[in-house]
Amino acid sequence: MKILGISGSPRKEEKSGTFSLVQTVLENTGLDYELVSLKGKTISGCIACLGCVKDNICKVEDDLTPIREKIVEADAYVFGTPNYYSTLNAVSHAFLERFFQFRHQTGNTLWGKLAVSVGLGGTMGQAPADDIERFFLYNFIETIAKVTGQGAASCYSCGFGETCQVGIPLMLHGEGVKIAPDMIPDVRKQDEVMASAARAGKLLGERLKGSHDRMKVTQAMQEKMMALLGESV
Ligand SMILES: Cc1cc2nc3c(=O)[nH]c(=O)nc-3n(C[C@H](O)[C@H](O)[C@H](O)COP(=O)(O)O)c2cc1C
Repeated sequence: MKILGISGSPRKEEKSGTFSLVQTVLENTGLDYELVSLKGKTISGCIACLGCVKDNICKVEDDLTPIREKIVEADAYVFGTPNYYSTLNAVSHAFLERFFQFRHQTGNTLWGKLAVSVGLGGTMGQAPADDIERFFLYNFIETIAKVTGQGAASCYSCGFGETCQVGIPLMLHGEGVKIAPDMIPDVRKQDEVMASAARAGKLLGERLKGSHDRMKVTQAMQEKMMALLGESV
């Protein structure tokens, strides 16, 4: 059993709360894992060329190309993204758009696999975590847990945080805010968030080590997908 972790943050690993949370989930699974950071990677969105429809292999050549095999081989995914404009950031969105390559003919490469989604925002991470779940549903992957938290918005370190009228410090602490290190959100110091990441990891490990029935999960996800489509027509 092997789990693929993806952190969509463009920040350095030691500064990224998304990376930390994804790593914590992975460490708690008790299984082999690989954690790939999308920092510095150039990944295009799907260009709708339909080059993948016959063989389920994307023909766009970029930094996603060497990761494709890891996606295929993994039994589960832990995918994290920072919240940008209440959704996934661009590189995470592009990465997941390219899962279109797995969706043709008898493209059941990913069906019935499991996932944990991780969303981190300057205020909240729920919206992007929900968006990851929806992306995974299109490939009949079950998101078994979502981990969300509040991370350090760049506004605390940009140099204008105490006066910027549209920055998070003013928004959260009000006019006249004086930025002190202990007011900067850091998921590593948020016991409840770290505990929820650890719980998600343990749950993922247990589900994978138990009698994980991909066919059954696939059927459940197909039903969920049909219900979702039914709601939107
Ligand atoms: C372009 C941009 C847009 C953002 N939009 C939001 C937002 O809509 N809501 C929010 O809560 N945080 C927003 N943020 C803040 C980030 O989500 C926050 O800094 C997060 O902690 C980044 O995670 P990381 O440390 O793993 O990179 C935004 C940040 C950037 C750079």
